[in-house]
Amino acid sequence: MQQLIDKFTKYFKAVPAVAAQAPGRLEVLGNHTDYNEGFVLSCAVGQTTNFVLTPVCGTKCTVKDFRDGTEMHFDLSALDSKPPKNGSKYIIGMLNELRKRGFQPFAFTAGLESHVPLSAGMSSSAALEVACGLAVTTYADFPISKAELARAGQGVENNFLGLKTGLLDQFSSLFGKKDSIIMSDFRTVEVLGTHALPAGYSFVVINSMKKHTLVDSDYNSRREDCENAARVLAAIYPGAKTLRDISPAELTAAKEKLSGREFLRASHVVQECFRVKQAAELLAKGDVKGFGQLLFESHDSSIRNFENSSPELDILVELARHHHACLGARLSGGGFGGITIHLVKDSDASDYAQQIRSEYFKRTGIEAEVFICSLGDGAKIIG
Ligand code: GLA
Repeated sequence: MQQLIDKFTKYFKAVPAVAAQAPGRLEVLGNHTDYNEGFVLSCAVGQTTNFVLTPVCGTKCTVKDFRDGTEMHFDLSALDSKPPKNGSKYIIGMLNELRKRGFQPFAFTAGLESHVPLSAGMSSSAALEVACGLAVTTYADFPISKAELARAGQGVENNFLGLKTGLLDQFSSLFGKKDSIIMSDFRTVEVLGTHALPAGYSFVVINSMKKHTLVDSDYNSRREDCENAARVLAAIYPGAKTLRDISPAELTAAKEKLSGREFLRASHVVQECFRVKQAAELLAKGDVKGFGQLLFESHDSSIRNFENSSPELDILVELARHHHACLGARLSGGGFGGITIHLVKDSDASDYAQQIRSEYFKRTGIEAEVFICSLGDGAKIIG
C-alpha cells in the first residue's frame, strides 16, 4: 500500500485522504451454490487491490490505474449512462449502488493498484468494487454494514453489468480471515464458522490462462436452469424455496418431473451444498485426505452435471489426480476457464507447481500462471 500512496502522491501532488485494501478470493468448495442460497467454503487471498483517494471540488473524477498506467475519467452527473469499457465501470457502478442506499457521491481523484490476476476467476472485479466502496463510505463516514457493502458490489454486477452473479465474491473479499477458510450461508448471509487450512498444506492456484469472461459464458443460463428446477421442486416439496432446501434423496425422487438438463444442474448444486457440510466436518476433524477427495468430486460434478469446466481445466485436474503430492483439485469460481485450486503439502508446493506447469505446457502449449496462495484477511482501511 505504501508504494501506491507514494506513486499517488508523486503523480497527483496530493496526499490520499483514505486508503482501502480488498483481497481477491478463492472458492474452495460450493460451486454455484451462492445464488441458490446455499453453503460455500471460501477464503480471501493475499493478493489485494489497493485503492486510495482524495476528494476534489466539482463533479469530475479521475482514477489512475498504476498497474497498467491508464487514466480513467468520469463525471458524477452521468453515473447512470452505459458502463464504459474500462475498469472505471466497477467504480461508477459502486457509486450508483451506494447512491441507491442513501450515499451522496462526491468527486475524487483516485489511484489504484491491483495484484489480483485479472479475468482469472479470483474476483479481481469484486476486489475493486469492495476497495472503492470501502474507501468512499469510510471517507464520507457513511454507515453501511459489511454484508450490505457486499450486496452493493453484487448490485454492480447484476444491475449495471448484467451478470446474474451471486454474493460470494464480494462477501469473501469482505469477510475473509487470515489463514482460514470461511464457511458461509448465503440464505442468512453470514459466516457460520472458520476452519484453519490443515497445518502444513497450501492451495496452489494454477490459471489455465483460458480467458474467463462471464458475460460471454453460460453463467446466466446456468442460474436460470437452477431457478427453473427450484420452481418445479417447490411445487412437489412445499416449503422448498431454492435448491438449498432439497436433499439428494428428494432430488432423485423428483427426477421425472425435471428436464434432463435441469436435473443435472440441480444435482450439482444439491450435492455441492452437501459436500460443503461434509468438508466442514472433515476439516474440523483434521481429515485432510477426505477433504481433498471432495475437491476432486466437485470437479467431476462440474464436468458431468453443471458442464462448466473446460478442456484446459480438465487437463489440470487430471494432472493433479496423477500426482502423488496432490490431495485434491477442482475448478474454482464460475468455471468455463479460469483457475484451478490444488491442495498440496507446503513442502511439495513449489515443485508441484512447476511440474504441473511444465506438463500442462507439453499438453496444451499454454504457459500457465501458478502461485502458492496464502489465505488473507478481508478488506480493510489502512492507516
Ligand atoms: C462466480 C460468481 C459467484 C459464484 C461463483 C460460482 O464467481 O461471481 O457469485 O456464483 O461464480 O460459485
